[in-house]
Amino acid sequence: MKYIKHIALGTAMLAAAAFALAAPAAENWSTLCAKCHGADGKGQTKIGKKLNLKDYTQADVQAKMTDEEIIKATSQGVMVDGKEKMKAFKELSDAELKELVAHIRKFKS
Ligand code: HEC
Repeated sequence: MKYIKHIALGTAMLAAAAFALAAPAAENWSTLCAKCHGADGKGQTKIGKKLNLKDYTQADVQAKMTDEEIIKATSQGVMVDGKEKMKAFKELSDAELKELVAHIRKFKS
């Protein structure tokens, strides 16, 4: 019986470790993106309003950006008129970038 308990605990710890390797998109969004783009993707945070960010719940806003553009903006940053508007998030893996795209798509109402 004692062993079974240990196996169960070990499995739970392994699962937790797997999550720690690549943060799930919802977590990346809330820690890296939400302060500007908003937890809800509307861009209505204090900074978001100042930067005039787009509302990702709007269908037309979503339609105007391709998955590739979202990945490019996130991994390479956004430059407008030679000025860096958003920094590049180089720490994100390809898998994390793809999941962030899916996360952003879910904001569409
Ligand atoms: C410091 C504020 C800030 C943070 C943090 C931030 N962004 Fe941005 N983001 C911006 C600004 C500013 C733009 C450029 C808006 C424009 O076109 O003028 C932008 C643009 C984008 C775009 C291009 C489409 C668009 O809305 O113009 C995507 C996609 C994007 N951000 C995704 C993300 C993701 C994903 C994260 C987190 C990994 C993130 N952003 C974090 C400020 C931020």
